[in-house]
Amino acid sequence: MKDALGTVQSVLVLGGTSEIALATVRALVAERTRTVVLAVRDPERLRQEEAALRAAGAETVELVPFDALDFSSHAAFVDETFDRHGDFDLVLLAFGVLGDQAVAERDARHACEVVQTNFTGAVSVTVPLVARLRAQGHGALAFLSSVAAERARKANYVYGASKAGLDAFAQGLGDSLHGSGVHVMVVRPGFVHTKMTEGMKPAPFATTPDEVAQAIVAGLRRDDHTVWAPAILRAVMAVLRHLPRAVFRRIPG
Ligand SMILES: NC(=O)c1ccc[n+]([C@@H]2O[C@H](COP(=O)([O-])OP(=O)(O)OC[C@H]3O[C@@H](n4cnc5c(N)ncnc54)[C@H](OP(=O)(O)O)[C@@H]3O)[C@@H](O)[C@H]2O)c1
Repeated sequence: MKDALGTVQSVLVLGGTSEIALATVRALVAERTRTVVLAVRDPERLRQEEAALRAAGAETVELVPFDALDFSSHAAFVDETFDRHGDFDLVLLAFGVLGDQAVAERDARHACEVVQTNFTGAVSVTVPLVARLRAQGHGALAFLSSVAAERARKANYVYGASKAGLDAFAQGLGDSLHGSGVHVMVVRPGFVHTKMTEGMKPAPFATTPDEVAQAIVAGLRRDDHTVWAPAILRAVMAVLRHLPRAVFRRIPG
């Protein structure tokens, strides 16, 4: 359960090597979160981070194997993780791949891998997650969507479509859980300097994992249903969303 100051006590992260997710977990531990479970493809890669989180005050840090594309493992993964820890105040879905748009346009397998990771994988693991969260009757489920979900651009429409699917799923889920005690938050960052965007030209209003983490933590405290990072992107995307197609398609990649 959240403590008296509204801080989450326990967090489960899916895609625990994500730089945005790790910055969020560090910010939460600094605010007294005590149980951290990082679900990742290769737990060995996070041994240093595990030690750092313990040193920062986390009492329990667990690294567990998880692959968003291994759909058949998701139900057992969720049940075993919740059975071991009792309940979670926050589940953060952070995994995702940007993919290579040029490759995706000629290689259906690559395009499908982007969609299956970002959308189908998220749906597959969320269904059993929701069953456990409903049963415990409290907690937040946060999804790392993207501004790319707001309107698909020709430069990355496969990724944009996968995030649009995820975003719509999360919004509908949030409404369906209203009154259940379980809160859904959709996070829409713009360009964030992480390994995902390494070597790319920063977009306007580019930000850092720490700034996105602060926006997520503040959003959790307020029970926001949508978090833009940075906040100005809400207004920017409201304009971009309604630009005529002939104008929108000329916006450079
Ligand atoms: N960076 C941006 O500009 C930006 C903007 C908007 C939204 N986002 C979204 O924010 C989230 C976090 O991204 P990030 O910027 O923190 O990038 P990141 O550091 O590259 O994190 C992406 C994470 O997804 C994990 N992942 C990929 N495929 C997976 C799979 N099949 N199973 C399990 N985990 C998998 C990666 O794990 P491995 O370490 O095993 O590869 C990695 O930890 C993503 O959903 C991304 O789409 C990012």
